[in-house]
Order: sequence, then C-alpha cells, then structure tokens
Amino acid sequence: MTLTYLVTGASRGIGLEFVKQLASAGNTVIATARNIEASSGLKALAQDNVILTTLDTGDSESIKKAVEFVSKVAPNGIDVLINNAGATGDMSLDVLNCTPEDYRKAFEINVIGTSSVTQAMLPLLRLGKTRKIVNLCSVLGSIERTENGNAWGFGMSYAVSKAAEGMLTKGFSCALKDEDFTIVAVHPGWVITDMGGKNGELTTTQSVEGMLNCVYKMTTKDNGTFFDYAGTILPW
Ligand SMILES: NC(=O)c1ccc[n+]([C@@H]2O[C@H](COP(=O)([O-])OP(=O)(O)OC[C@H]3O[C@@H](n4cnc5c(N)ncnc54)[C@H](OP(=O)(O)O)[C@@H]3O)[C@@H](O)[C@H]2O)c1
Repeated sequence: MTLTYLVTGASRGIGLEFVKQLASAGNTVIATARNIEASSGLKALAQDNVILTTLDTGDSESIKKAVEFVSKVAPNGIDVLINNAGATGDMSLDVLNCTPEDYRKAFEINVIGTSSVTQAMLPLLRLGKTRKIVNLCSVLGSIERTENGNAWGFGMSYAVSKAAEGMLTKGFSCALKDEDFTIVAVHPGWVITDMGGKNGELTTTQSVEGMLNCVYKMTTKDNGTFFDYAGTILPW
C-alpha cells in the first residue's frame, strides 16, 4: 500500500535518504526543509510524488504556513509523520559544564520543534489512513543506559533533549492511543552523516532501510515503544 509521508529535516543526511527510499517505493512524500534552495540533493528529488516545501521546525509561523500548504496538496491528509529534524548542541560539553544557551539550542529543535510540528500536523494525520508518527530519537537519550555511573560524559544537551523527546513520544502515544495512533521513538544507529561523522557504523541507506522495514510493519501494538533501526527494543 503506498501512502503519504511527511519528513522534516530532509535537506541532508538521514532525512534526505528517507525521501529517496520512500519515493522510490512509490509513496507520496512531502519533503520539508528549512532552506530548500540550499539543498541540491533535495531539489534533485523533486518529481510527481515528491513535493517540496519549507518547514523550519523552530519557527511557529513556518509551521503554520507548512500546514496550510500540506492541507492543499494532500487534502486526504498525511499517513505517516517522520520527525527527523534534529540538532546536537555542543558535543564537547558534559553535565558539569553545559551552558543554558546550549541546552536551549538543543531543546528548541529536538523537543519544542518535534512537539510543535506534531501538534500542528495532528488534524492532517487524523484524516490519513494509518496515523503513524516516527520520532528520530537516540540511544544517547536512554536514561537506563546511563545508569551505574556509565554516563556518556559528553554532548549533555543532546542527550538530555533526546531523553525529553522520548518522554514526548510516550506522552503523545498515551494521549492518542484511543484514536488508534502508533507513535514511536527510533534510534537510527550510529550513522555516517554530518551529525554522526565519518566514523559512523552505518550508511544512511542501511539505517533508513532498517527503520522503514520497522515502520512499514508496525501496528498499534507498537505504540509508545523505543527501538533501533534493526527493530531491537531499547530501554527508555
Ligand atoms: N547520525 C547519527 O548517528 C544519529 C544517531 C542518533 C540519532 N540521530 C538523529 O537522526 C536525525 C537525523 O540526523 P542526521 O544524522 O541526518 O543529522 P544531520 O546530518 O545533522 O541533519 C540534520 C537535519 O535536521 C535539519 N534541521 C535542523 N534544525 C532544523 C530546523 N529548525 N528545521 C528544519 N530542519 C532542521 C537539518 O537541516 P539544515 O540542512 O537546514 O541544517 C538537517 O536536514 C536527528 O534527529 C538526529 O538526532 C542521528
């Protein structure tokens, strides 16, 4: 079954690869980025089933305009929302020296952006056929994995904001459970991108193939879970 997907942060990295794979599988993809003009990769993907539009997840006016646009181009709603846009903050700052400004930057995109886009897109998701929301979280935000003195020791604003994005995922999954939504947090693995760096363990192709296998198969039974690109359940 081909569906309508909306992907945030599609200018590069994992988001761009989601657009490629979803489009080549015949789905309709609304590919969003805060600066489409700056992404030659995204512009090259524009075709009948790939619709590009501007969406800065940190800007409420931009989110409002994107919703208006999507309502016109997808009057039957969107089936799957992929909240992929993310930012790291300063990865050299640990819990003892992370600054308020650094926490604000990471929270602005990873938590407030994901929340605002999800809230704004809900009416369109309610019109859709599958009611799925996929939040790109990270194992670095797993509280259980940092127990016993095993804290990551770096990139604290990223880790704390991704933990909060996990709670956001859980919160939405509880609030929308009775409406048959499936809302999950996914860790893409350590992926070679601008964020993951050159030493990552997976290409974007491998990571996105794995995540999409899970997304295609998931049902309301998976609502509120956290898993990685291979489908392995992770602790919150
Ligand atoms: N790579 C990894 O190993 C890894 C591991 C765990 C989790 N993740 C998560 O996976 C997701 C994608 O990561 P990635 O590796 O592809 O990162 P990336 O290469 O740094 O790309 C980040 C994407 O997010 C977009 N973005 C940032 N702020 C935005 C905003 N305000 N509005 C719209 N888009 C915005 C960027 O757009 P611009 O081009 O405009 O900056 C870019 O498209 C993130 O949520 C990340 O936390 C990645």
